[in-house]
Amino acid sequence: MGRRSEAVPRGIYLGTPIYVAKADGALLEDVDGNRYLDLAGGIGCLNVGHRSPGVVQAIHAQVDRHMHTCFQVLPYESYVRLAERMNELAPGKFRKKTFFLNSGAEAVENAVKVARAYTRRPAIIAFEDAFHGRTMMTMALTSKTHPYKAGFEPFPGDVYRVPFAYCYRCSYSLKYPECGVYCAHHLEDSFKRVVAAESVAAVIAEPVLGEGGFVTPPSEFFRIVVEICRKHGILFIADEVQTGFGRTGALFACERYGIEPDLLVTAKSLGGGLPLGAVTGRAEIMDAAGEGGLGGTFGGNPVCVEAGLAVLDAFEQDSLCARAKQLGEGFAQRARRWQQQWPQIGEIRGLGGMQAMELVRSRESREPAASETKAIVRYCYEHGVIVLSAGSYGNVIRLLMPLVTTDEQLEEALAVLEAALQAVLQSRGVAVQTV
Ligand SMILES: Cc1ncc(COP(=O)(O)O)c(C=O)c1O
Repeated sequence: MGRRSEAVPRGIYLGTPIYVAKADGALLEDVDGNRYLDLAGGIGCLNVGHRSPGVVQAIHAQVDRHMHTCFQVLPYESYVRLAERMNELAPGKFRKKTFFLNSGAEAVENAVKVARAYTRRPAIIAFEDAFHGRTMMTMALTSKTHPYKAGFEPFPGDVYRVPFAYCYRCSYSLKYPECGVYCAHHLEDSFKRVVAAESVAAVIAEPVLGEGGFVTPPSEFFRIVVEICRKHGILFIADEVQTGFGRTGALFACERYGIEPDLLVTAKSLGGGLPLGAVTGRAEIMDAAGEGGLGGTFGGNPVCVEAGLAVLDAFEQDSLCARAKQLGEGFAQRARRWQQQWPQIGEIRGLGGMQAMELVRSRESREPAASETKAIVRYCYEHGVIVLSAGSYGNVIRLLMPLVTTDEQLEEALAVLEAALQAVLQSRGVAVQTV
């Protein structure tokens, strides 16, 4: 740890002071031989698990063939094959094209480039509590100020922000379903008061907010938003960097909402542990950028592409989407019992295997319980379970466990989480109600 702080800037956040030695499936082992259950998956990058056998085999085989040529300089067939498979799998029965990048942020940046090239319009609308990355454009699209944006200004212009369907903390103080999903319809109003519709290239959204705390909009929210976009010739970009690849119980969360994005952004679990991002979209939109206008030196590196192909094979073979639903339900059932017991569990929410609980000081005030959340994360890693916090107020515990987590492992992890709630909430003087 001393060497780390000497050699690495403090801006690189330290989640857990544990040095990893090896990992397999849902398990990690540290350099001292301690064992951990991993419910973080490198922030949702390991839906197929650590060192998924097919991924490891594919990487080894590719390393023995060639490792880098730059696809624009010397192409290789595997890149085209992965693009074809992504085109086939992405929602929508229209002709699609795909290209690859190195990260989620880079993929978001490129989706914006493509949307602007196609529409010849400048503006992008993003949502409150959104997270889209740490590059200049993606910081502009991201909502949370600290630590992501503050001090790094100025950002690129023509980014506008509207409220998301965060029902637990509704920006309009309305209640679903009586509100009639006012926040979705309100997009129309933004074209009068915020930015003209004919200036907007795209609306970008995460189907379920990732860093924003797994906020899960009502089922009709995105259908309304997409309808409004279509009416005004605005593209809809789905950022499925965190929701993608089976996490929500379908390969893409858009399927769960019954929507077809014009552009789909993926990364994280696409690479099965290697850096790989992608933009997939309607062919005519994707071809709007001129020759040489897209790409990069390493995007779609052959080793990462082989890992991506192996990830898709794993999804075809192993019913991981169904498993995501089971794991999510396993957590939600248990968490609902905890909610009866501890009033500080304000909301349990999620979609499929993307589940979270928002912690508050009291049910009435809904004051975010950020320090308690931190203490719970800490208790968990001190007792062998890695969990992540999230949310604009830092008061959400989110689970991104590998979808190969067994029932026994989930049970073991939830027992630790329950003990963490007990230890932290109890020590802060809250009377436990009998269930
Ligand atoms: C929804 C979403 N978009 C974009 C990103 C940025 O991805 P990366 O960190 O690979 O640049 C993230 C990362 O957490 C994300 O959750």
